[in-house]
Amino acid sequence: MPRQLFVTTALPYANGHFHIGHIMEYIQADIWVRFQRMQGNQVHFVGADDAHGAPIMIAAEKAGKTPQQFVADIAAGRKPYLDGFHISFDHWSSTDSPENHELAQSIYLALKEQGLIDVRPIEQFFDPEKGMFLADRFIKGECPKCGAKDQYGDSCEVCGAVYAPTELKSPYSALSGATPVLKTSDHYFFRLSDPRCLSFLEQWTQDGKLQPAVSKKIKEWFTKDENGEGGLGDWDISRDAPYFGIEIPGAPGKYFYVWLDAPIGYLASLKGYFAAGGPKARYGEARSYDEFMADPNVEQIHFIGKDITYFHTLFWPAMLQFSGRKLPNQVNVHGFMTVNNGEKMSKSRGTGLDPLKYLSLGMNPEWLRYYIAAKLNANVEDIDFNKDDFMARVNSDLVGKFVNIASRAAGFIAKRFEGKTTADIGEEGKQLLATLQAGRASIVEQYEARELGKVLREIMLLADRVNEYVDANKPWELAKQEGMDARLQEVCTVCIEAFRLLSIYLKPVLPVVAANVEAFLKVEPMTFASAEQLLGAHTIGAYQHLMQRVDVKMLDALFEAPPAPVVELPKPGGEDIADTITIDDFVKVDLRIAKIVNAEHVEGSTKLLRLTLDVGEGRTRNVFSGIKEAYKPEDLIGKHTVMVANLAPRKMKFGVSEGMVLAASHADEKGTPGIYVLEPVAGAQPGMRIR
Ligand code: MSP
Ligand code: ZN
Repeated sequence: MPRQLFVTTALPYANGHFHIGHIMEYIQADIWVRFQRMQGNQVHFVGADDAHGAPIMIAAEKAGKTPQQFVADIAAGRKPYLDGFHISFDHWSSTDSPENHELAQSIYLALKEQGLIDVRPIEQFFDPEKGMFLADRFIKGECPKCGAKDQYGDSCEVCGAVYAPTELKSPYSALSGATPVLKTSDHYFFRLSDPRCLSFLEQWTQDGKLQPAVSKKIKEWFTKDENGEGGLGDWDISRDAPYFGIEIPGAPGKYFYVWLDAPIGYLASLKGYFAAGGPKARYGEARSYDEFMADPNVEQIHFIGKDITYFHTLFWPAMLQFSGRKLPNQVNVHGFMTVNNGEKMSKSRGTGLDPLKYLSLGMNPEWLRYYIAAKLNANVEDIDFNKDDFMARVNSDLVGKFVNIASRAAGFIAKRFEGKTTADIGEEGKQLLATLQAGRASIVEQYEARELGKVLREIMLLADRVNEYVDANKPWELAKQEGMDARLQEVCTVCIEAFRLLSIYLKPVLPVVAANVEAFLKVEPMTFASAEQLLGAHTIGAYQHLMQRVDVKMLDALFEAPPAPVVELPKPGGEDIADTITIDDFVKVDLRIAKIVNAEHVEGSTKLLRLTLDVGEGRTRNVFSGIKEAYKPEDLIGKHTVMVANLAPRKMKFGVSEGMVLAASHADEKGTPGIYVLEPVAGAQPGMRIR
């Protein structure tokens, strides 16, 4: 009997595009799912956008869209990522779907029926500037448990504690910066502190189904400290309007907190998949969604990151248990991905390795799948993307050890033997192939246990054996020797057989390479059972190169910061600052305070005024200045200004000018009213030097 697997990944918030952390999670789950399908199991692999909550509501408002439109726009951008990295979801939905509204309300009503819902007035933070209750994400302050600064109101990213926003120290509104005020409103609570919930969860989280580190962490969450504080509190599941979410039945103006309806979105997406006829088309599934989920043999399996463990191992199983539903069989928690020893990426910013940039640079998505798989194990450990490590694993292992086996043998089979392999294989070859076939059991076991790093290590050890065989038998030398045709065909056949076995084992990680191998070898889609038989005498197709090596230039380009936006620097006064001069250049210009003792129009000139200036020399100077449009002569008389006193006298049409008065203007406004004659602060005397 094939297993029936309902598999999910965490539902990404619909307020941004995927980042490398999301892609890592999808690759992990997708490899596991493809492995299960290759084992002949039935898998329903679904995802959805997590549409609700205050952050999305506020982001939509900022973007000038309705939340529905905002979320739809984000959803429309998902496909290039999922297709690009060969993530094989069967169905993708949204937590704002009708199925989710319906399921969330009925699960809530079932919990209420069980007496597990309480209504209590609570004091909550209200932003007096914004006029709304503040969602946890919009209150920041110090973590009440570890004291980390700038933590959100619902949980601490440093120590993982989950708490009420009112427990934060020194809170402030992230929307307005205002200090929030407390205001009372009725809230709905899921009574997790009920003895029924506690005893159920204590058992469910500690019975060995969760990863050991996860069970251990949960135990800490259960434990009250010496003051009787901590432990499992009741969970506030309501939010006041305005809120983008699902209305609580019988509670006008109240909405489910996003984390109540988000995991229900797993069920809603599966339900939508059934409604669309997916399981029927794929596996001839005749049952309805409800019948399917009532089958105790159906396994419900979640893949999530460590930051959302609390929600998935406490709130979620309790919701399911007390609404009479199937419980998760696995909650597989992974660590975080960092990039180039970088810090943990912020959930919203997701800096580092841009998945779409990776694809647009022509980088092979299967390199990343292989690399991430090589780094992953079944524990909750962070993994780091490292350039050199990436190059080494892809070029030395994936291409050097695996892909090269085919390229070393395929040419001879095609050119010398019309594409025919032989069933006639000697002892050495038989033994090698038997070793490869025997490797399957352990590889399958490690895939099942999500020990992907171990899977790839085992496959590479087998590839080493094959390469040793190639080096020992040297097909390129056999090809040059007389009468060695049969031997050459045999050795190359062993290589092709071995290559096919390795390709089967790598298929969950490298689905496109595997499909190309199937085409090249002219074989049916490979499953793990295909490893039981060998090709024998078979005709293969032409070899096309299966995979390039990584070029370091691609990695450099991937991490190259985007070019800084070209900012037009303003030109001061409409023109560039002149070339640098030295102080010696400057002192050559002798600037002096001058008193304008007279100013008058110049007959025949539209631009000039004639100024009579006293520079303290016991005589006056005659200076023509192009300021007629800006000043009436009478407004200037008696004022002090600045002049260049050592300028060579210049003979003009109207007489000799003995210097120059300084005035300010914009480069574009010369001659127009924008001219301002310099005037020193009161007290400056004619003849004083300016330096
Ligand atoms: N919407 C919630 C999940 C609701 S599930 C019912 C959420 N969304 S998320 O977009 O912030 O994160 C989605 C998944 O990506 C989570 O499993 C999260 O742990 C994972 N990751 C986010 N950043 C990550 C890394 N840097 N590395 C690996 N996974 C990371 O939480
Ligand atoms: Zn903390």
